Amino acid sequence: MHKIQVADRAFGIFLENENINKRISLISIQLNVDYEDRCPLFIGVLNGSFMFMSDLLKEVSISCEVAFIKVSSYEGTESTGAIKETFGLPQDLHNRDIIIVEDIVDTGFTLEHILAQVHAQKPASVKVCSLLLKPESLKKEIPELEYVGFEIPNEFVVGYGLDYNGLGRNLKDIYRVID
Ligand code: XMP
Ligand code: MG
Repeated sequence: MHKIQVADRAFGIFLENENINKRISLISIQLNVDYEDRCPLFIGVLNGSFMFMSDLLKEVSISCEVAFIKVSSYEGTESTGAIKETFGLPQDLHNRDIIIVEDIVDTGFTLEHILAQVHAQKPASVKVCSLLLKPESLKKEIPELEYVGFEIPNEFVVGYGLDYNGLGRNLKDIYRVID
């Protein structure tokens, strides 16, 4: 097995870049159909979504706008649900078609927090596109979660934008913790 070390933990290969990009192509085909002539606004959630957003939008061929927000996050491998603040949310979302782009949905607390702020501006529509979803750890119902790359088991993953204590975001493949 292809193993790597990130900080104090060992990780094994989980999703190779080639497979990630194949899945992204399929999602983008769907987005190109669903949002034709709607000029959606893609809002990426930093830092984790930067690589997914980049690869996804290279395949999105419709007219669209792009923005990024940042949500203060947790450290280590456990989601606490304690979301502090959102930075950089555009203030002109009224009547727009919004697509929130996430790296991973774990408990759903982060998205719940973001979605409340987005909906408050009365956009025309709001959908979520997440590369990864951990269905077993989801604690919130998220009807906006329309586009999901991969459903994965409840294990900590790193790479392709996702970090372990700040490290590993630059890895082109996704790895899961093995010890
Ligand atoms: P919640 O629980 O709010 O979590 O849905 C979403 C955010 O938590 C981070 N997260 C992870 N980051 N590997 C990571 O590198 C993981 O396995 C993982 N699970 C959750 C991530 O920042 C995500 O936006
Ligand atoms: Mg994140």
